Amino acid sequence: MSGRVRALRGFPDIGPADTPAWLALEAAVQQVLLRYGYAQVRMPVLEATELFARSVGEATDIVEKEMFSFVDRDKNAMSLRPEGTASAVRLGIDGGLLRNAQSRLWYTGPMFRHERPQAGRYRQFHQVGVENFGTAGALADIEVIAIARDLLQAAGVLGAVTLEINTLGSATARAAYRDQLQQWLRAHADALDEDSRQRIERNPLRVLDSKNPQTQAALADAPRLADSLDEESRAHYAAVLEGLAALDIAWVENPRLVRGLDYYNHCVFEWTTQQLGAQGTVLAGGRYDGLVEQLGGGPVPACGFAMGCERVLLLQQALDCVPQAAPVDVYVCHEGGQGRLQALRLAQTLRQAGWQVLVDGGDGRLKGQIKRAATARARIVSKDEHADFTLLDAQAPAALSEHLQALCPAGAATPS
Ligand code: HAM
Repeated sequence: MSGRVRALRGFPDIGPADTPAWLALEAAVQQVLLRYGYAQVRMPVLEATELFARSVGEATDIVEKEMFSFVDRDKNAMSLRPEGTASAVRLGIDGGLLRNAQSRLWYTGPMFRHERPQAGRYRQFHQVGVENFGTAGALADIEVIAIARDLLQAAGVLGAVTLEINTLGSATARAAYRDQLQQWLRAHADALDEDSRQRIERNPLRVLDSKNPQTQAALADAPRLADSLDEESRAHYAAVLEGLAALDIAWVENPRLVRGLDYYNHCVFEWTTQQLGAQGTVLAGGRYDGLVEQLGGGPVPACGFAMGCERVLLLQQALDCVPQAAPVDVYVCHEGGQGRLQALRLAQTLRQAGWQVLVDGGDGRLKGQIKRAATARARIVSKDEHADFTLLDAQAPAALSEHLQALCPAGAATPS
């Protein structure tokens, strides 16, 4: 058999032109999370299917139709992780990290959802996730939202995103509201779109964030979550907003924001942008106080979020602020034969002194080599046996050339 084997749909490669932006984002993320004292964890990409069914929720889009699930040779049902929170909770319980402790964890890596691929929506995509365990009060919500703000700022996209926030109330308040809303939806089913009608019995809260304009218009008279909040829920929400104001974090309240995963309660939030069309949610999260217990741990309050790396990078492109690869310092040209060894020695001396150096791979003419040096955005070219350095980049400081000249005076690179 011959011919090309193509990549799977929705599983994009990340090529050399793109990795500088990824590396810059990852470095910025590490720096921000170090400042907040979060420890990195690394979970497997495969987990028992039950983990996601019991956390994300049986009736959610993710579990119902988007997981890559299979039964392995030992007849175990497993799934590629569609998100990181459930795995982080499992890791925390298994590792004894959540017992009577305030645990601050973060992770990054690929997630998998069988969605219809389009710009900003992939079947393999990457998240940076942050999870805070053991703090019931608003301080934890405020902390994770502040981290989110700092991450978006470090990525250079903060100016193009808006923080939308809402409260789902305590688990009891949410359950009471769910029943009330369900009854209203049943009575007004005719005014809803087909998708929303199907959600009435299985996941009524999700009808609230339907994108259908006709459904949105009909919902204007639906009971409001805000009206069924108990005192504790109101106080928690108010404390979060007070903290955000104290940190100069601006927000917009969105009473329709409910999130697509079942484990949330109290404060939920999304950072959204207008610049990426329908895939405008760049980062999202909230509080999930019942989840640890639901997965077999103790009653540990928790909150967190995940940032979609591809969406942040797309936003950098839209804003024309994509970090570029650092230019090569020195490009060593040579004429082949003995010149190759001289070039290698010169490059070694310079690399050991900390410079980034490329040696031309061919034996070709000098003109072609200098062209390749320019393509590599080299600041300086050097010619093997002379170790004499010529500035290519008008921006490169002349001092650099002098410095290198001093390091490798003419003839120093000649084999002895
Ligand atoms: P989520 O809203 O499902 O939440 O995903 C978080 C972010 O991942 C989204 O806002 C988006 O930027 C990105 N994302 C999701 N699906 C795709 C896709 N198909 N292609 C590209 N990017 C995507 C969670 O996953 C929760 N675990 C967040 C969380 C952590 N809540 C508490 N802790």
